[in-house]
Amino acid sequence: MTDRYCVFGHPVAHSKSPAIHAAFAAELGDDIDYTAIEAPLDDFAGAWQRFMAAGGRGANVTVPFKEQAYRLCDSLSERARRAGAVNTLVLGAEGVTHGDTTDGVGLVGDLHDNGVTLAGAWVLVLGAGGAVRGVLEPLLAAQPASVLVANRTAEKAAVLAADFTDLGAISGGGFEAVDAPYDVVINGTSASLAGDLPPLPDDLFAEGATAYDMMYGAEPTIFLRWAAARGARTVDGLGMLVGQAAESYRLWRGQRPDTAPVLAELRRSL
Ligand code: ATR
Repeated sequence: MTDRYCVFGHPVAHSKSPAIHAAFAAELGDDIDYTAIEAPLDDFAGAWQRFMAAGGRGANVTVPFKEQAYRLCDSLSERARRAGAVNTLVLGAEGVTHGDTTDGVGLVGDLHDNGVTLAGAWVLVLGAGGAVRGVLEPLLAAQPASVLVANRTAEKAAVLAADFTDLGAISGGGFEAVDAPYDVVINGTSASLAGDLPPLPDDLFAEGATAYDMMYGAEPTIFLRWAAARGARTVDGLGMLVGQAAESYRLWRGQRPDTAPVLAELRRSL
């Protein structure tokens, strides 16, 4: 029987995950069925139960279900426990549901693929919401010299950073805590959706620095345009999207697909 997977979201029709996983399966010669399912807002657990009953083996979870998915898991990876959210469900032996989150691996892998060395780097992360919490464990595991989490609401960044201080040199505060220059600046805010830029100094970037935006689109985000004008190399979040998918695929099937051809194809289709 064909192994079934899906992405749960609400809305979910525009998710790129079905196309990405179909491309991975074609690359590896796997026979899988991967669909997008719009789960009811108030009954994510029921949607997952029904999917398992229909032969589902694993799922991706996107907005707004990542916390609901976290709560239903029988076991969690350390990085998912730290994130307080799950983007990957894996059906294990005896019907046990395991939860993991692969966004951080996707981010760190994409930085690596773009030639960025995190080890020993001075890193600034903008934002302190769920997107940032979800990536801090793998980011700190790459052993940067330090990570500053800076956020419009300073208190949120301080509380978030405090949850990770056992993993490395990390602190949090408001944008006034930004102490330039940095080697890597990661935008994890949704400010660009509103056409906004966090208030940042013009000398933010060290020589050879990289600006990374977790968002992507056909055009560079306002943050990446701002960064390019100040001499930074810029990378958008499309590679992170493909990377998190590849890590999910590996969790389900034991084999990590090559992301480069799928990323190139996705880039062409934007
Ligand atoms: P996500 O799950 O995408 O992280 P979130 O938890 O709502 O969503 O977090 C959004 C992040 O973007 C927060 O860090 C938010 O800052 P606040 O904590 O101060 O709200 C940040 N953000 C959103 N709009 C912003 C703007 N216009 N300027 C600066 N930061 C903004």
